[in-house]
Amino acid sequence: QTGLQAKELGREIHYFGAIDSTQHKAHELAKGGAPHGTVIIADQQAGGKGRMGRPWHSPAGTGIWMSILLRPELPLYRCPQLTLLAAVAVVQAIRETTGVRAEIKWPNDILVEQKKLCGILTELNAETDQINYLIIGIGMNVNTEDFPSELRDIATSLRIQVGTPVKRIPLIQRILENLEKLYKLYIEYGFSPIKSLWEAHANTIGKRVVLRQLHGSLEGLAIGINEEGTLLVRKDNGEIEKVYSADIENASS
Ligand code: BTN
Repeated sequence: QTGLQAKELGREIHYFGAIDSTQHKAHELAKGGAPHGTVIIADQQAGGKGRMGRPWHSPAGTGIWMSILLRPELPLYRCPQLTLLAAVAVVQAIRETTGVRAEIKWPNDILVEQKKLCGILTELNAETDQINYLIIGIGMNVNTEDFPSELRDIATSLRIQVGTPVKRIPLIQRILENLEKLYKLYIEYGFSPIKSLWEAHANTIGKRVVLRQLHGSLEGLAIGINEEGTLLVRKDNGEIEKVYSADIENASS
């Protein structure tokens, strides 16, 4: 792979013209013993998966559909931190290669002008309280010119933002390089440098949010993330709620 500066991530790259889901393939390879840093990329996915069991629109030629296998020797509770780390790597790569000032919506949606440019799906395989492996799936709309009608109002692409086609390979390289750099920083210094970077790129903190969770919804002020990578929301009665997983929206008030 010429031009890729990352040493560990992308040492092994599996490329597919068409696939069901790079996420499935990554699990399969991980179970077969694939090393830390294995990357799976497809031009098209027939069964792209999003968060919360949703489908992910992955047509040919227009996006980055990529899964990265990590094998961190870390306890389970640190998994959300790695998800946030991935969002920082991607948002920085977008800015550095295209100048588009994308923002992170907690935990790891990447938006421009409130429309979704990129989604990240982290899947975990763990034994008791240790991470066995982690798969970070990145889906980025790069050269999409037009979305299906149900996505038109909520999705955007780099091409729509920049006005001209955007090359995918330099962007993929930069994502992998940033991820490798941030991962090293994280292993050496822990979550706090990542937390600051995440907060600097986030559009959620300091805003009123509505959280849709499995068992109902909750409204409050997003006041920050804690050392574990959990979102902290202050409810109107003053109680602070820790939010591990939910869909959030900005409150209309
Ligand atoms: C989200 O719901 O926001 C997450 C979307 C993640 C999509 C990516 S595309 C590459 C990888 N393979 C999949 O099937 N899903 C992820």
